[in-house]
Amino acid sequence: MKELELIKEAFQAQNFSYAPYSKFHVGAALLGKNGKIYQGCNIENAALTPTNCAERTAFFKAISEGVTEFEAIVVVGSPEGTKQEDADYCAPCGVCRQVMAEFCDPNRFRVILARTQEDYQEYLLKDILPLGFTGKDINK
Ligand code: THU
Repeated sequence: MKELELIKEAFQAQNFSYAPYSKFHVGAALLGKNGKIYQGCNIENAALTPTNCAERTAFFKAISEGVTEFEAIVVVGSPEGTKQEDADYCAPCGVCRQVMAEFCDPNRFRVILARTQEDYQEYLLKDILPLGFTGKDINK
């Protein structure tokens, strides 16, 4: 499968993280159903609230290119200067889970948290966003 390639690309994206304030560097690699991989990093701002998470950067890149169907995302994140063997799993924030729920089937979309190239955990979106609010709730 594409897991190993996705993990590699998430670590590549982490190198571009712009995080001068938190010094917490996050990378993401999002796999579209079209087989393409979209990389994202967190992009911070001096005014703090304009900050964009790595996951949403990846989603918005894909969606802005007309791609709206996805299979999986890998997320990696750690404080600046962390040695790879000391890195921990980095779970997506609630806002990013909500963006995932807008576009992904909660029963199928896989969220993979990688600590190293070989060590990762995998979840389904439904398990990390139970009782999520979606368009179905509005259009009942
Ligand atoms: N961050 C992400 O990019 N993704 C996450 O899943 C968690 C948090 C970023 C936002 C901010 O730039 C930094 O990590 C610290 O919160």
